[in-house]
Amino acid sequence: MPATPPVDLAAGIRDLKARLKAVILAHYYQEGEIQDIADFVGDSLQLAREAARSDAQVIVFCGVHFMAETAKILSPQRPVLLPDLAAGCSLADSAEPEAFRRFVAAHPGHTVVTYVNSSAAVKAMSDVCCTSSNAVQVVQSIPPGQGVVFAPDQYLGDWVARQTGRELVLWPGSCEIHEMFSAEAIAAMRRDHPGCIVLVHPECPAPVRAHADVVGSTKALLDAVKAGPEAATWLVVTEPGIIHAMRKARPRGTFLTAPAGVRGEQGGCTSCNTCPHMRRNTLEKVWRCMAEQAPQVHLDPDLIARARRPIERMLAIG
Ligand code: 13P
Repeated sequence: MPATPPVDLAAGIRDLKARLKAVILAHYYQEGEIQDIADFVGDSLQLAREAARSDAQVIVFCGVHFMAETAKILSPQRPVLLPDLAAGCSLADSAEPEAFRRFVAAHPGHTVVTYVNSSAAVKAMSDVCCTSSNAVQVVQSIPPGQGVVFAPDQYLGDWVARQTGRELVLWPGSCEIHEMFSAEAIAAMRRDHPGCIVLVHPECPAPVRAHADVVGSTKALLDAVKAGPEAATWLVVTEPGIIHAMRKARPRGTFLTAPAGVRGEQGGCTSCNTCPHMRRNTLEKVWRCMAEQAPQVHLDPDLIARARRPIERMLAIG
């Protein structure tokens, strides 16, 4: 018999958190009400660090599957709960492990840098992981002249190649959300909102990034808002879940979401910028996974050992 959720879900979650001695980690792309009950809200890198550092008995991961998997790899002895096991990632899915094995084998002698938006099986075939926060630093840590495979996000890889001046062999993956933003729509919004500051995630294609005032991870974009004027207008070219934290930081700011596709034409739509996987998590599912201590992320211990090495290498880089 499934348990009946309480009317006050937030209070129910707080109660379960105390009973389970759990920590709730949430990505900036989660619904605002989930971010508000979390102990820690952050980008992929911050959440991986927090999962490694936490001494809680249970980790409740409000994000997508690869993020919870990373937490499990770093804390294999602790249960890691994910409110909805089906919360996937188009980027992680774009690197199917067998095809990835062949790609790596076709580039012998290369250092394999893998974005954390990937499965544990793909991480296990990699030399070092990165997130959008530290990808430039990770590539810079590899000696010049050494060949580098960068996977699975071709657009992040292209941005890193331009930032570092390095030639990277790119796996042709992409995020279904960031790939859909349109340079034309952003240019039109700039004209409609003169003086707006354009914030772009590096998973966007180069023509979209070309319109940016700031390119960076969700944390870097939030930091730009915190450091910016009190009442500016910001055009946010990433998943709009991050706007919750931006509004808290700058209550007098105006935050515009960027549409996917050209304004007025097919695809000129502001809901296409919302990640359907991140949004699978709801407050009720957070409560339920804690009440039932399921679903949990389970990984083979041997896979954990192999996937852990590139993540730890990344964390050591700084
Ligand atoms: P960051 O958390 O590194 O900003 O990126 C998250 C992500 O998955 C973007 O799609």
